[in-house]
Amino acid sequence: VQKKLWGGRFEQSVTPAVEKFSESVSFDRKLYKHDIQGSRAHATMLAQQGLISMEDMENIISGLNEIERRIESGEFLWRTDREDVHMNIEAELIDLVGDPAKKLHTARSRNDQVATDVRLWCRDSMDKIIHKIMDFQVALIKLADSYKDLIIPGYTHLQRAQPLLLPHLLLAYVEQLERDIGRLKDCQQRMNYCPLGSCALAGTGLPIDRFATASALGFIEPLRNSVDAVSDRDFLLEFLSVNSILAVHLSRIAEEWVLWASEEFGFLTPSDAVSTGSSIMPQKKNPDPMELVRGKSARVIGNLTTLLVLCKGLPHAYNRDLQEDKEPLFDSTETVIAMLEVSTEFAYNISFNEERIAKSLTAGHLDATTMADYLVYKGVPFRTSHEIVGKSVALALSKGCQLSELSIAELRSVNPAFDEDVYKYLGVQNAVGWFRSFGSTGKACVMEELRLWKDKVVRR
Ligand code: ARG
Repeated sequence: VQKKLWGGRFEQSVTPAVEKFSESVSFDRKLYKHDIQGSRAHATMLAQQGLISMEDMENIISGLNEIERRIESGEFLWRTDREDVHMNIEAELIDLVGDPAKKLHTARSRNDQVATDVRLWCRDSMDKIIHKIMDFQVALIKLADSYKDLIIPGYTHLQRAQPLLLPHLLLAYVEQLERDIGRLKDCQQRMNYCPLGSCALAGTGLPIDRFATASALGFIEPLRNSVDAVSDRDFLLEFLSVNSILAVHLSRIAEEWVLWASEEFGFLTPSDAVSTGSSIMPQKKNPDPMELVRGKSARVIGNLTTLLVLCKGLPHAYNRDLQEDKEPLFDSTETVIAMLEVSTEFAYNISFNEERIAKSLTAGHLDATTMADYLVYKGVPFRTSHEIVGKSVALALSKGCQLSELSIAELRSVNPAFDEDVYKYLGVQNAVGWFRSFGSTGKACVMEELRLWKDKVVRR
């Protein structure tokens, strides 16, 4: 067994159980690229400050480059007895370039090192998520564009409410996803400060330049307090919260599409390429991918909970508990990326069943609210008009017909305010035609929004 890098004061080696329990290299090796990136910046700064020679710096950096190459080609041997990604790389560097490598950890602790690596990893991952969200938005916008005129029943309480243009609903998803992008960018900005040089918790007496490393790594500035820098993971709580909100958005879309794929709704058909079958029922074709999108949102929410509970009892500053932040972080990130990819594929692989949807529009009196608005035009106070239309609906229900099928005499028997022109308001086509408020499902509004979104996505 090799002596630990921290082994100076120890007389016994750790038991196999403790070694196995404490290691993190099996999962934190995902940080290797950012760890090496941080070490390069640190070594460069140490040389600029005269803490190591230029030659040492060059040896360190070429060694790090070689290690990166070996990791990426699969030649690198990750060792559990070296505990974590940081010490695997440092110990390998010492094996590779010898004495100069022993100077790399000058004015650095794994506490500030890991905090830096994780921030760098998050910054890149947030960019990836943002791009995946944008891909999904494009798919939704294309879907909206190919069903420009399709009217669907809109629901409240899952009861038929008012007619909607399908693009209006799809653009609602797009708006929600746009706020998720905004939240990721906010979080990325707030997170973009550098812990490196905070060392274990108190900083250092050595003449380092934290502004130089912060800027070399693309951070706005160094974090201003060394204790804060190594102890807080609020940036992860924020990131996982944002991922959870995103996952909830995707889950709601998934729920809607799963419902719509049912025989009962029959609004959409997923292609075979995004469906799966049953091992016993030969006739089945299930929308499993979207059920899994709905299902996987649970683990994203669970990961946030894990991290909140992990952090809530920690005294300042670093505690080893914080090693447990990584698996929830990685899982949450990988899961939302996969959810976005599958949702995008699904969006490219569904078709809406226009006939079936048209049939569904004849029940549920989706034009009742528009009829009430008509009476408002005629000078009837809205509360009164609500009452009158309610009675008209009752009459239509008793006759088993739609509002537009009541004769003018029947309508007048409910209230004399009705004129022949009421029929221009009835039926879902007419009803949708009357919407004009900003942000409404009116054709002109929706087409304008669709145009704006198409413009926006080609520009970015
Ligand atoms: N592997 C640790 C983590 O992920 C970083 C090392 C800090 N360890 C320590 N004993 N101070 O948090």
